[in-house]
Amino acid sequence: GLYDGYLAEQWRELDKMAKEVLLTATPVDGEKEAKEKFMQDLEAVCQKVEPTAKLIPFGSIVTGFATRGSDIDCVFTSNTDSALQNDKITEPETPFDRHDELVTQLQESGYNAQLLTRTRVPIIKLVRPATPDVPDSVSCDIGFNNFLAIHNTRLLRTYAACDERLVQMVLFIKWWAKRRHINSPYRGTLSSYGYALLIVHYLINIAQPPVLPNLQLFHPPATQTSTELQYEHNGNVCNIWYLKDTSTLPRSANKASIGELLRGFFEYYAFTFRWQNDVVSIRTAGGILTKMEKNWCAARSRPGGREEGQVWEVKDRVDVQHRYLLAIEDPFETTHNVARTCTFNGVGRIKSELKRAMYLIKSRDPGHHRLRTELFEEA
Ligand code: GTP
Ligand code: MG
Repeated sequence: GLYDGYLAEQWRELDKMAKEVLLTATPVDGEKEAKEKFMQDLEAVCQKVEPTAKLIPFGSIVTGFATRGSDIDCVFTSNTDSALQNDKITEPETPFDRHDELVTQLQESGYNAQLLTRTRVPIIKLVRPATPDVPDSVSCDIGFNNFLAIHNTRLLRTYAACDERLVQMVLFIKWWAKRRHINSPYRGTLSSYGYALLIVHYLINIAQPPVLPNLQLFHPPATQTSTELQYEHNGNVCNIWYLKDTSTLPRSANKASIGELLRGFFEYYAFTFRWQNDVVSIRTAGGILTKMEKNWCAARSRPGGREEGQVWEVKDRVDVQHRYLLAIEDPFETTHNVARTCTFNGVGRIKSELKRAMYLIKSRDPGHHRLRTELFEEA
């Protein structure tokens, strides 16, 4: 009826906008190559300090979720023979500890490198300056022994390979979240990784029929070795198995356009998802756990230092952040809340942005003028 007509029109308009956003948001030609070249040059400098050094990229450069000018994430490894044999990633027995020496070498080689030591694990920060071919400067983080990030990056990359609509949705939502200033874990909102997990949950469990299968629910073949099943991190055993060869899976029966899926995403998180009680858990059948069953309800204090993500915390401060106002379980490190960076105000802003987006999507002014001009308006 009439309502279906309105809906279809909203989908169409969002779909058009998504195509335009993808053109603007995707990295400029040669950006990926320039970032990879930058990493290779860095790796060569690292090898002056540690001949077996390798820099392994993770994050959006690998998943395909990179937007124009997005940062480079990589992990420093050494003794790679044992660490990276046949693609299996395990922590080296003697972790690299000459961080100061490495930073000095990088500085002597002309890089503006900085070592962050107030963090739980050390991090080296550098910037690739803008060049005529890549007009945005790009920041680069080198982490150490953050191997779980390589695994979860590969999980996301495998999901991206299942259906091209995942990448398109992530780019759209990241672009929107950046413009609306709700994508800064340093300032109380959610990381890109967190938004990606929200989208994966939506595509596995909420969109009907599902757009993505749950790759962590397939049974591992009996031939899997233990390093492919489990990984010990911070004293916790993480189940890292997921289906890696997706070439034999059938295509999704869901033929929805990006516009339809985007509207569904906004509607679900604006009105249906129970922020108070629910935990997004992409590894679980159904995709939702409760804060109660995860014991993520109470306020908690934690020693300061740097979390795995990008968050600075003042040492020894009891932080209301850890009330876990928004809860997104990491797919492998299940004790880890990816949304722990969200403050009370931050979650409030994310929710009101989702509602604002729905309001704009539904507004029926001629030519969808408000949606077009206001959805991506810089907040
Ligand atoms: P942009 O940098 O905005 O392009 O997005 P990204 O896809 O690189 O995501 P982000 O920089 O937020 O995270 C990079 C990677 O860090 C993710 O792909 C994960 O592999 C890893 N990671 C693991 N745990 C966390 C976490 O709690 N927070 C964040 N931010 N990253 C995590
Ligand atoms: Mg990144």
